[in-house]
Amino acid sequence: MKKTWLIAATVFCELIFCAISALPLDHRLRAPSPSFGAQSPADSVRAAEDGLALTPPMGWYPWNIFGEEPQNEKLIKEIVDALVSSGLKEAGYSYVGPDEGICFYRGDDGLLTSNLERYPSRLRGLGDYIHRKGLKYALYTDAGSRTCSKAMPGTKDHEFEDMRQFAEWRADYIKIDWCNTEGQDIVKTYTKLHDAQRAAGRPVIHSLCSWGEGYPWRWAAAVGHLWRTTGDICVPGQADWEEAMEIASANEKLSAFAGPGHWNDPDMMIVGMPGVSDTQNRTFFSLWCLMAAPLIAGNDLRSMSESTIETLTNLEAIAVDQDPLGVQGKIVWTEGAISLWAEKPLFDGSQAVLVHNQGRHPAKKRVSWTEIGIDGAAPRYVRNLWTHETTGPLPGGITVDVAPGDVAMLRVSEKNDFPMPPILMADSYLVSLRSTGSASQQLTGTITITNKGSAEIPPWRVGEVLPSWLTVTVMRKGKSQTFTNTISTAGLKKGLYHAVVRADNTEPVSGRPMSTLYYDVDLEVTQDVSGPSR
Ligand code: GLA
Repeated sequence: MKKTWLIAATVFCELIFCAISALPLDHRLRAPSPSFGAQSPADSVRAAEDGLALTPPMGWYPWNIFGEEPQNEKLIKEIVDALVSSGLKEAGYSYVGPDEGICFYRGDDGLLTSNLERYPSRLRGLGDYIHRKGLKYALYTDAGSRTCSKAMPGTKDHEFEDMRQFAEWRADYIKIDWCNTEGQDIVKTYTKLHDAQRAAGRPVIHSLCSWGEGYPWRWAAAVGHLWRTTGDICVPGQADWEEAMEIASANEKLSAFAGPGHWNDPDMMIVGMPGVSDTQNRTFFSLWCLMAAPLIAGNDLRSMSESTIETLTNLEAIAVDQDPLGVQGKIVWTEGAISLWAEKPLFDGSQAVLVHNQGRHPAKKRVSWTEIGIDGAAPRYVRNLWTHETTGPLPGGITVDVAPGDVAMLRVSEKNDFPMPPILMADSYLVSLRSTGSASQQLTGTITITNKGSAEIPPWRVGEVLPSWLTVTVMRKGKSQTFTNTISTAGLKKGLYHAVVRADNTEPVSGRPMSTLYYDVDLEVTQDVSGPSR
């Protein structure tokens, strides 16, 4: 009986899948209903090797607010500067770069080449700018023959040379769309792109974007780090609240498939977009944090209200999203317009809880400790993550009042202490050194990583695979750690040298691996240097 039901459900799902694949472009705007029944998550995880995205990526992409047209180097650089000056960088946002918006062409030789009209410093120049600001470089491409607007080439049949080109441009994150892929097998295609990335040698986050087509949550953890679960959250420039809530509801059902290095992606955020109220901003952000969703801002960072900045940089909410256990919370109770979200254990043994009132009237909800799966007998402290107040110890539970459309976002703990997991910020991700003259020299350049969280992290361990001209030492000073890169030029020939340094760390409270850190070291040797040849 059960088996028959399963087969029927699978056939039904595959039928829906075929129907969705055949839909024209506009239908990407509708969230497909996810199928999650009998399938379990993929058994291998790409991040186990590269250590990337062990917490959900945070950053900014232009699509939601700008769409394609105005994207160019000037705009992206202005956004990068605003990301730094507004405090978003300090709150952990780091991946930034162009989405679809003609940034490259395919030349006659089959290779990608920067659109110099829009990106006069070339895409590598933009990447260097971003890295020097202590941010990570995100680019966009498509797995099919063309991108969605058809204005840019897709990677089909050019997977290996394109991934090499993205590596040369020094991308750290690539969103890979699924337009114009008629006849392509989705698993084989994204697997080929994964293989191409490995062959290119640069560790890069792959953000798969098939809007739920092909049920990526079933298999994509092995070949990527995050996958869109639903259609586009809005048409560029026009935030759509109902669509956002439908997407949240579809994504919520997929909680079993998310974890460190492999995330459900309910799309970029609409926080701070025109037409979204302060309450909606807070509600949206809370839902995305509770779902351990990638926090990719989609608003114009150059003109944010104070309230938008406060929402996007609320470290107590971000700590829930960036929790090293990487559990996606879910709805455990609903009645009418009120839902209770829980099952989001955090690294220190506390729990994140959310009450969402989607109704038009104020709501009162009793959250009992047993209801959220914790021992009912022990009194708990409750931290309100938006008012930043702690109450307790409370026996049995807490009653919260929630205004219409609003949320109460809480952290419940046995202790009156709510530590923050590591939230990292770099002063730069690029060391650039130049040697002159033929006598051998020692040159140094530093990278400093600061932890905005409260849990102290042990010293980073630098990977052993370094070129012979480079040594790296790590020094701890307060909450910062400085990587000193020492270059010895003895015996080097004239030329350009490049290394990617990898450093690993563990989060000390849970003992889990923390997101691996990578940065680039460039060396220009202007003349052959004497000394034992290398
Ligand atoms: C798809 C994606 C969007 C955006 C556009 C660009 O629709 O889902 O996020 O990248 O393509 O055309």
